[in-house]
Amino acid sequence: MTKQEEIQKLKDEKDAVILAHYYVRPEVQEIADYVGDSYFLSKKAVGLPQRTIVFCGVSFMGESAKLLNPSKTVLMPDAEADCPMAHMVVRETIEKARAQYEDLAVVCYINSTAEIKSWSDVCVTSANAVQIVRNLPNQNILFIPDRNLAHYVAEQVPEKQFVLNEGYCPIHENMRAAEIQKLKKQHPSARVLAHPECSQEVLALADYIGSTSGIIQYAEESLDKEFIIGTESGVQYALQRARRDAVFYFPETEPVCTDMKRITLDKIIEVMKHGGNEVCMDNGQADEAAKQTLTKMLELAK
Ligand code: 13P
Ligand code: SF4
Repeated sequence: MTKQEEIQKLKDEKDAVILAHYYVRPEVQEIADYVGDSYFLSKKAVGLPQRTIVFCGVSFMGESAKLLNPSKTVLMPDAEADCPMAHMVVRETIEKARAQYEDLAVVCYINSTAEIKSWSDVCVTSANAVQIVRNLPNQNILFIPDRNLAHYVAEQVPEKQFVLNEGYCPIHENMRAAEIQKLKKQHPSARVLAHPECSQEVLALADYIGSTSGIIQYAEESLDKEFIIGTESGVQYALQRARRDAVFYFPETEPVCTDMKRITLDKIIEVMKHGGNEVCMDNGQADEAAKQTLTKMLELAK
């Protein structure tokens, strides 16, 4: 039996469904029931008929799925797969801003721990941040933890005041504008599609800025045949499936999220067989507050 066949058999036996982010390895995306960006996956996690969710992604994704579905079993193929940015804010930043601005909304990127979510008012993803922030009644926004996404949202919603926090994604932050410029010179008709976690210098070179799903959809609908991609290279699998006729160029220093790449078929089989790495949320009121930020996001993004 191949690993793929074994996973299929385990899905049936254990009444399990597999969710995967676009940044995981191609062979993992291939066996997943649903592949998507953080927004799609958090929506999808709600109301699935299976008893068990195997989340092929980093820990904040599994936590969010568990918060939204407390009665389900959520398994992480690798318990160490974590997003470094998800920890990049301290409580004092929030307390200080709350003391300073009476009408402050603390807007928390989904790439954050459940504890950080519990200190916040509403959660967002890169796919819905602009829409949600624009429609909030609050004039003052503390956007945590990502300074790059915060900066991008602030530009799109100039009528509001933003307090930024110094968090960042090391993979997107590491992308150099000079490498994108070099690719643009080599492929002058290529469109540049970038994720808002990139630095301002990289985003200034982009023809389109959006979430991973947004980037894939843009390429799918475009008449262009060459694209320079400013996000983690795992999206190449979905891009190439969507546009077999197109060419996708990535920066020379390949953007690779080593945490996402920790998920392998062997680890999926292992947790499905033995039920390891179960996500347990046992922080009572804090978990309830974190869940509310997610349900508020799902309502506001409709
Ligand atoms: P999206 O899935 O929202 O595009 O974000 C990318 C990301 O970094 C997930 O960790
Ligand atoms: Fe976190 Fe960046 Fe990896 Fe996404 S790509 S999970 S933001 S480290």
